[in-house]
Amino acid sequence: MEVLRVEGPARLRGEVAVSGAKNAALSIMAASLLADGPITLERVPEVSDVTTLSQLLRHLGMRVMRSADDVVRMETIDPSRYRAASDLVRRMRASFCVLGPLLARRGRAIVSLPGGCNIGARPVDLHLKGLAALGADIRISAGRVIARAGRLRGTRINLRGPHGPTVTGTANVLCASVLAKGNTIIAGAATEPEIVDLGSFLIALGAEIEGLGTDELAIRGVDQLGTARHRIIPDRIEAATLLIAAAVTGDCFTVRDANAEHLQAVLDVLSAVGCQLNVEHDRIRIDRRGRLLPVDIVATPYPGIASDVQPQLVTLLTLADGTSSISDEVFPNRFAYVSELRRFGAMVHQTGCGVQVEGCSRLRGTQAVARDLRGGAALLLAGLSAEQTTLLGGLHHIDRGYQRLDEKLRQLGARIERRRPLREPHAQPASIDERLPTAV
Ligand code: EPU
Repeated sequence: MEVLRVEGPARLRGEVAVSGAKNAALSIMAASLLADGPITLERVPEVSDVTTLSQLLRHLGMRVMRSADDVVRMETIDPSRYRAASDLVRRMRASFCVLGPLLARRGRAIVSLPGGCNIGARPVDLHLKGLAALGADIRISAGRVIARAGRLRGTRINLRGPHGPTVTGTANVLCASVLAKGNTIIAGAATEPEIVDLGSFLIALGAEIEGLGTDELAIRGVDQLGTARHRIIPDRIEAATLLIAAAVTGDCFTVRDANAEHLQAVLDVLSAVGCQLNVEHDRIRIDRRGRLLPVDIVATPYPGIASDVQPQLVTLLTLADGTSSISDEVFPNRFAYVSELRRFGAMVHQTGCGVQVEGCSRLRGTQAVARDLRGGAALLLAGLSAEQTTLLGGLHHIDRGYQRLDEKLRQLGARIERRRPLREPHAQPASIDERLPTAV
């Protein structure tokens, strides 16, 4: 098990590029099962979730090749397969996105139910409700969804759940409806940029979709989809994480290849806490030299503050001059990382509906373990801002969704290295190793 050794406090300078959006790439790769010819995707991030999904798609009869740094080519070579390998599905939530495309294109699908995880309950009732409304016959047996359909039929579906719209649920139902007979209306659809990107990809394949970016999608089913070349949007969560790195360290640098429009809510928070921001085309320059102000924030569906940056913002607010409160309407229990953040001396208290953060002037380096992707990023940010050394374990969580984040931070000047704990006699490897999770 590798750990990151971070020498804080970091001084960050220069420029760093954002990779392609993990969550757009994953749903688009799954949607490629619908295509009737080769697919070329550009700006696909090299993250382990993409590797896992590629393996799953190969099991499902696709050829998947990374032909250049960020280009992935895909093509169906055996359309008879419909059982998604359960060990791969259980590793990541997004693999459930193969369900809609398999049903629509191959008429059958067997896909394990994805479990809950460290960010809270992750039901799939809305996915199944939407697919059943399109005419699929769905059973759950021994933890697997067993679904069958002749040609799906267009209908009106409301996908809004108790915590708002569902992102991967919208992806599944949208993918199923593009090949359905007749028209489908998806009300309560997710408006996230990753869904808009998926929709643009489907349109490039020949699908007919209106209303992308709104909460009501209108789909006219077509008989067949063709081939496409598509460039994935920049990862807004990675961009936000890098911008917050500047804010926690009190530094100034430029994040390029970003889409500031997708980041508006985060940019507003960063301005409110005292950062200067300058946006020019795909470049965002951030400068934070003065004190940080406290703010009260609530993570909500897009265009609000993304739940996927809530943990990183909590780290930022541990350094503010006063008390902030943070809650998360999308995943109300997404605070498992807080106990690790407290090891840095952060004063974060759980309240009925989120956390209250009492700012302090400095965090101190410690040993901590990432338990999930964004919580792991929050701990890494704490390590960058803290006095002295931090050893961070659980890196496989961070590697699931950030393309070489440690390398990008090193490029900005952070003193950060990946190492095996046993090679570092002063790192007390036994204790950090003991706390590393054994299962993904
Ligand atoms: N929900 C239901 N029923 C469902 C589906 C969801 O009640 O059938 C609830 C969830 O429990 C949650 C809320 O609806 O409270 C929103 O969940 P959603 O379905 O939108 O989440 P997701 O599609 O499983 C995607 C991203 C997450 C991101 C969320 C919210 C992917 C692969 N994952 O998850 O990304 O946090 O949307 O924006 O697209 C991450 O990248 O770290 C990550 C967790």
